[in-house]
Amino acid sequence: MKIVRPFSFVLAIALFTPAIRAQDGVKKDDKANTAISYYKDVRPILQQHCQGCHQPAKAQGGYVMTDYPNLFKKTEKEVIGVVAGKPADSELVKQITAHDGKKPAMPRGKDPLTDRDVTIIKQWIEQGAKDDTPASAKLPTVDANHPPVYTQSPVINAIAYSRDGTLLAVAGYHEVLLHKADGTALVARLIGMSERIQSLAFSLDGQWLAVTGGNPGRFGEVQIWNVEKRTLKMSIPITFDTVYGASWSPDSKLIAFGCADNSLRAISAETGKQVLFQGGHGDWVLDTVFSVKGTHLVSVSRDRSMKLTEIATERLEDNITSITPGALKGGLQAVDRHPTKDELLIGGADGTPKLYQMFRTKDRKIGDDFNNIRNYGTMPGRIFAVKFNADGSRVVAGTSYDGKGEVRVYETTTGKLVSTAKGVNGPIYAVAHHPKESVVASAGFEGIVHLNDAVTGALVRDFVPVPVKGAKK
Ligand code: HEC
Repeated sequence: MKIVRPFSFVLAIALFTPAIRAQDGVKKDDKANTAISYYKDVRPILQQHCQGCHQPAKAQGGYVMTDYPNLFKKTEKEVIGVVAGKPADSELVKQITAHDGKKPAMPRGKDPLTDRDVTIIKQWIEQGAKDDTPASAKLPTVDANHPPVYTQSPVINAIAYSRDGTLLAVAGYHEVLLHKADGTALVARLIGMSERIQSLAFSLDGQWLAVTGGNPGRFGEVQIWNVEKRTLKMSIPITFDTVYGASWSPDSKLIAFGCADNSLRAISAETGKQVLFQGGHGDWVLDTVFSVKGTHLVSVSRDRSMKLTEIATERLEDNITSITPGALKGGLQAVDRHPTKDELLIGGADGTPKLYQMFRTKDRKIGDDFNNIRNYGTMPGRIFAVKFNADGSRVVAGTSYDGKGEVRVYETTTGKLVSTAKGVNGPIYAVAHHPKESVVASAGFEGIVHLNDAVTGALVRDFVPVPVKGAKK
């Protein structure tokens, strides 16, 4: 897969904006005649700056901006968002324009749009506000009134138990499905903007569910759901690609995640504002976890490294794994932290779950892998998911290999193999330990959730987590 590096990425965006295009060839005065594209020019602006607060699951001001027809509807205050041909009569334009010396009302609480973005939106409306979305890119509306329809179970990239152990959250298409933890009932569908959900994480106080995902190559998103009310508290647009590996700080105030622009980031769960950016990785950042005290963040990447970042300074402090050429075998996919100790469990392309200490107790020497505490048995294929159980006594890992997969439980301190989950056949992308019972959940390519006894490996239950059209109940 192509690696997108930050600088070329910024350049690529700049090259596609109309203002730059206008410079090569079209004279500035002719700009009014340049046809503005809804799909290529306007939609990305709305996606990045507006849709977080103006989407079906969270329609602030009664105004939805995630699809073309809704732009022309009335807001809660009975004013029309977009009046084709008339920017001055369009509430959307009024909201992004400064009045009486006050900064524009929208986007609420954020920096105003650039003059260039405002001009693009105005010109598009002036030119008739047409929809030029290619037929191939037109997707059916998906919201609470039009829930995703499945003809087969989707690939499952993430699962997580709620902190009290009553719910199992499963990533679907465009939604997170909340099941009773024993897999006997679907209790809620959290439908949001992102088509693809990459990670799920409940806050430690149990109140919130962080969801990361996006639409590949178009936008990334972090969603924060109120677990009890099942409402979307916030949707934060992040970069132009899906985002990965959500984790919560111990005080439930920050959410960290990894991006396909190789950055590790953290945002405030209260305001959505970015509080940390670390660009030290050389490839996609796929998973994150906080230290016990919440002072540090750990990130793993396809660049094969596990890095330690100090939160207060946003400074890259250490490479936890060895960075000696040849010492690292393939990208890292997943990281989890021991529930009470600063010890890290990682898994990746080499198929061996490994335990590391987070903080170095000896100076780094070239070639050492001093922080490595223990390796567990090598599993067939690549590891996509690793997790500790609630007291840290066991670890679980899930793999994918040639269309097959395996889930194994090991004893943390002895490395002894405890069980191999029975009834698991297809590639596994997600694993979880029940917080109170001796049960491991796993899921992946086949779209089936397996619940296995962690000690014996016996299959307790398996189920398809989505309603499949035409399937027998
Ligand atoms: C952080 C959240 C947030 C973001 C981002 C945001 N809005 Fe809003 N928007 C709101 C809230 C809250 C309201 C309702 C407040 C009100 O009625 O004054 C609202 C109301 C509106 C309304 C209706 C106003 C009316 O008088 O009926 C429009 C139009 C609007 N926003 C456009 C935009 C546009 C365009 C963007 C992006 C450039 C944007 N918003 C970004 C939160 C947001």
